[in-house]
Order: sequence, then structure tokens, then C-alpha cells
Amino acid sequence: MSFKEQLKGRDLLTLADYSKAEIAYILELAAQIKDKQKKGIPYQPLQGKTLGMIFEKSSTRTRVSFETGIYQLGGMGLFLSSNDIQLGRGEPISDTAKVLSGYLDGIMIRTFAQKDVEELAENASIPVINGLTDDFHPCQVLADLQTIQEVKGSLEGLKLAYIGDGNNMAHSLMIGSAKMGLDVAIAAPKDYQPKAEITELASSFANGTEVLVTEDAVEAVKDADVIYADVWASMGQEEEQKEREKAFAYYQVNGELFAHAKPDAIFMHCLPAHRGEEVTADIIDGPQSVVFQEAENRLHAQKALMVALMS
Ligand code: CP
Ligand code: NVA
Repeated sequence: MSFKEQLKGRDLLTLADYSKAEIAYILELAAQIKDKQKKGIPYQPLQGKTLGMIFEKSSTRTRVSFETGIYQLGGMGLFLSSNDIQLGRGEPISDTAKVLSGYLDGIMIRTFAQKDVEELAENASIPVINGLTDDFHPCQVLADLQTIQEVKGSLEGLKLAYIGDGNNMAHSLMIGSAKMGLDVAIAAPKDYQPKAEITELASSFANGTEVLVTEDAVEAVKDADVIYADVWASMGQEEEQKEREKAFAYYQVNGELFAHAKPDAIFMHCLPAHRGEEVTADIIDGPQSVVFQEAENRLHAQKALMVALMS
């Protein structure tokens, strides 16, 4: 079976469900789609298709890149704020899934609980794409892998260090890195480490590479090719901001920490960023930062994903 046939109609709930070869195929398609876009070559394999985008949390990148992406592919995106649809007033997820399957060709959802995305996918007959939950952010990691590949030329044999909260980004980066042959090191305070079952899952994908979780940021960053940061308080944790600032004070990506990485290490961040908290301005705005290339690649990677799942 070709990758095209293999991926058609599938959901993307987490990268754990995709093989290394399938992820590599999507990344290759993303590179081709980006190249076409830069050359102004029209590419519209999703003419007449509609993507519904359910948001229970805020978004700049995810919303704009999916909406623009489906439009560029010849289709249309529908922004569905959970405040405005009946889901927000208690209509069951399963009913919503069945109803939307009659109108749309795909659903992207950003919400809190991963199990809600799973329930949506179980009850929908069209592809469901996870646009961020409390546990995972697979679309971001597709764009991250595309960016690393562009800058470093390949993925295998590199080391990615993530400094900060053991959150959705840490989880998805562990899985994506382990699958694609990167060593991954997560440095987080004791009470904020990644979920043990997700670390175990990521480790099960590692093929001779390392999945390390440590409290020691210097150890994590040592000889890294990629240093990654995310906010200390994620969406939904706003009231924990103050206590998290204390807990994460040692986990700031600054010049001193960066000096332990390889001299040509790059800095990545899913954004939005808080300068002066998880990263200093000289690093995120400095010459080794690739955060805006990374943000742009959300568009290209997700166009590839939509073409793979929806055409
Ligand atoms: N990185 C990311 O998902 O950004 P948004 O929250 O703006 O979508
Ligand atoms: N961990 C962050 C990522 C934002 C893209 C959050 O969930 O808010």
C-alpha cells in the first residue's frame, strides 16, 4: 500500500499513531508544498473540501495556518468557537461528531482533555486532527521536525533538549524525536516532569537513541543541536503563573545555559513566548533562533497533513 492510501482518512490524535516512514512522508510532502508555494505554483488538491476548526482555547498560529492552508489547497476552513456552537452548551461530543461528519471533510480541534479528541474521532467518519490538548501538540512537532530538517539537513543523530514544563510540547517532542531518530532530553523540575506513561511510550519508539528526563538543565543541554522552550504556564494554568515562576526559575534558556550546547545549536519555541521568563530576549531574538521559520512551517506541514488525510 502506498503512503497516500495508508494515510487517507486517518486521524492525527498523537504522533505515536504514525510510523517513522509515515511521518517522513508527510515531511517530504511539506517540503514540496512549501517549494511550490515559494515559486507561486498553484496546488489545489482539496478543491471543494471543508475543514471545521473547533477551538476551546485561544490560538494565533494554529487558527491562521489551518484556515489559510485549507484555502490555499482549494478548500475552505470554518472557525468554530466552542462558545458559539452547541458543544459549549453541553451537546454531546459524539452527537457533534456525527452531525459534523455529514457536512465537513475534516475536523481540527483544540481543547483540554485528550479523551475528548479521542471521543470525537471515534464518532466521526471524517479525519480528526489534534490542534493541541493538555497532553499533546502533534501539528506543532510536524512543523518543528520540518524546520530542524531544513536547518540541519537531516534529523537522525541529532540531540534535542527541551527545558521547562513537562507539558503537551514536552510529550509530543519526546514522541516525535524518538520516532525520527533524535536523542531527546527533557529538563523539568521534579513536580513538573512529563507524565511517566508518556515517557515510557516515547522510550518504546527509540531505536538506539536516548530519551532522558532529568531535573538538570545543564545535563539536558549538553552537546544539544536543538534547544527548545515553551511557556511555564500553559493555557488553562493562568492562576498558577506565580508559583510556576518560582518553580521554573532555574529552567530559563539564557546565554549561560545555551553555552553548554553545540556551538551551532538552534533555538526553537512553539510560541507564544514570554521573554524574560522561559527564554531571554537575546536568545529568542538572536542569530541562532529559528522561531519564525518554525512558525511559518506550521502552514506548510499542516497543508501536507491535510492533503495526506483529506484528499
Ligand atoms: N504554537 C501554537 O500552537 O500557537 P497558537 O497557540 O497561536 O496556535
Ligand atoms: N504549552 C502551551 C503551548 C502553546 C502552543 C499551551 O498549552 O498553552
